[in-house]
Amino acid sequence: MTMAAALFLVLSCLMGVKSSYLLPHPDKITQLPGQPPVEFQHFSGYVTVDEKKEKALFYYFVEAEIDPLSKPLVLWLNGGPGCSSIGVGAFSENGPFRPNGQVLLRNEYSWNREANMLYLDTPIGVGFSYSTGASSYVTVNDEMTAKDNLVFLQRWFLKFPQYRNSSLFITGESYAGHYVPQLAKLVIELNKKRKMINLKGIALGNPLLEFTTDYNSRAEYFWSHGLISDSTYNLFTSVCNYSRYVREYYRDSLSVLCSRVMSLVNRESSRFVNKYDVTLDVCIPSVLSQSKIIAPQRNSERIDVCVEDETVSYLNRRDVQKALHARLVGVRRWDVCSNILDYDMLDLEIPTISIIGSLIKEGIPVLIYSGDQDSVIPLTGSRTLVHRLAKQLGLNTTVPYRVWFEGQQVGGWTQVYGNLLSFATIRGASHEAPFSQPERSFVLFKSFLDGRPLPQEF
Ligand SMILES: *[C@@H]1O[C@H](CO)[C@@H](O)[C@H](O)[C@H]1NC(C)=O
Ligand SMILES: *[C@@H]1O[C@H](CO)[C@@H](O)[C@H](O)[C@H]1NC(C)=O
Ligand SMILES: *[C@@H]1O[C@H](CO)[C@@H](O)[C@H](O)[C@H]1NC(C)=O
Repeated sequence: MTMAAALFLVLSCLMGVKSSYLLPHPDKITQLPGQPPVEFQHFSGYVTVDEKKEKALFYYFVEAEIDPLSKPLVLWLNGGPGCSSIGVGAFSENGPFRPNGQVLLRNEYSWNREANMLYLDTPIGVGFSYSTGASSYVTVNDEMTAKDNLVFLQRWFLKFPQYRNSSLFITGESYAGHYVPQLAKLVIELNKKRKMINLKGIALGNPLLEFTTDYNSRAEYFWSHGLISDSTYNLFTSVCNYSRYVREYYRDSLSVLCSRVMSLVNRESSRFVNKYDVTLDVCIPSVLSQSKIIAPQRNSERIDVCVEDETVSYLNRRDVQKALHARLVGVRRWDVCSNILDYDMLDLEIPTISIIGSLIKEGIPVLIYSGDQDSVIPLTGSRTLVHRLAKQLGLNTTVPYRVWFEGQQVGGWTQVYGNLLSFATIRGASHEAPFSQPERSFVLFKSFLDGRPLPQEF
C-alpha cells in the first residue's frame, strides 16, 4: 500500500464516509490520455484477494453521470475464460469511452448514464490482474474464480464504503454465464450468515449456461444462416456434434472423425466471417495480421469493427497505464485475452443453469439476453434453456413471447416467466451486444434495472 493509500484509509476510518469528498481517493483517475472532459468521477486500481497479498485483481469503476449515490451499482464481467472486462466491456461495449487513435470518444449509450459501473479483470492473469505466486496461473478454475471475486467485492466495499448499501446487480457476458451465477450464489450464502451485500438481480448476455445445449445450437445456426452446406450440417449433427468435438479437444483425444467434420465446418464457414456476429464485417488488419496483407477496408458506418485493436494499442501505452494506476506484472504487454492463464477448460461442462434456478427460488430476478447475430452462443440454445428452467420451476408466463421496441423499431423479442425470469433477444446484435447495438442494449439495461418489462410499443 502506498503512503497516500494508507493515509486515506486511516482518515476514512477517523472521519467516516464523508472523507472521500475531502481527500482525493487514491484510486481516482485524474484524466486519461486523450480523454474528453466529463462530469463524472472514475477510479481504477487493485484489490488484493489473498492473505499473502500475492493475488491482485484490477478494477475500473465509473460513477453514474448524475447523482451516483442514488443509482445502483453494477458489476460487469467478461468471459473467455481469460478476457478482460476493462478491455472488452469498458472500452468496447458499455463503458463511457471508446479508444480511437490517440484519443477517447464518448459512448453516448454508456451504461453509467443509469448506474455506477464496476468492471473487474478476473481471474488473476487477465488484463492488468496478476499473481506473484509462481504457479498460480495453473489450474485456475470456476471455484477459485468465484471465491476470489467474492473477496474482491467485500474488499472493494472497504475502498468505497458509500456504495455498501447500494442495490447491486451482477452482469456479464459469454463465459460470465459461469462467473456471475457462481458469484451470486456465494453472495447469497454470505448474506444468510450476515446480510452484507444488497444483491438485486443478475443479467447475462449470450451466456454459457449448459454446455451441450449451448454448443449444439451452433450447427443449426450455421446452417440456417448459410454458413455451412446441407451435407456438412448432416455430419455436424450426426457424425460429430460440436459438444463432442469440444469435449474431445480439451481432453487431448480428438478423433479423426471429429477432426474431419470440424475442418469441413471451418472451411465452409470461413475465417473471414465474424462468428460473434455473422453479419458484421471482420477487422481485416487483425484477421490478416499474421500474413501481413493489407486488404482494402470497406468503410463501415457506425460500428468500428477494429475497436479491439484500438483498445490493445491504447491500453499498452505507458501514459495510459500510469493514469489507470495499472502495472504489467509477469507479462510484457497487455492483451485482450490472457496468454498466461491456464484455466481448467473442463469447467466449461459445469452446468450453471441449475444455479440460476436456485437464485430464482431465492427471489433474485434474472435476465438472459441474446444478441441474435451471434453464432458462438446462439439465442436458440439460451431460449431453450430458459424455457426449460421456467417449466422445471413451475413459473408461468407473465409476458408472452412478443416484440419489444427501441424508438420506433423492433429491438428484439422477449418473454417473462413468473415476473422473475426474463429472456430477451437484441435484434441485429453480436455476442458483444452493447458493442454492435448500443442503443437497444441500453434500453434493455434500463428496463432491467427498473424491474419493468421491455417497451411494448412506441
Ligand atoms: C448502510 O445501512 C446500515 C444499516 O441500515 C447503516 O447502519 C449504514 O450507515 C449504511 N451505510 C451507508 C454508507 O449508507
Ligand atoms: C452430441 O453427441 C454426443 C456424442 O456422440 C451425443 O451423446 C449427444 O446426444 C449429441 N447431442 C446432440 C444434440 O446431437
Ligand atoms: C400456472 O398456471 C396454471 C394453469 O393455468 C395454474 O394452475 C397455476 O396455479 C399457475 N401457477 C402459478 C404459480 O401461478
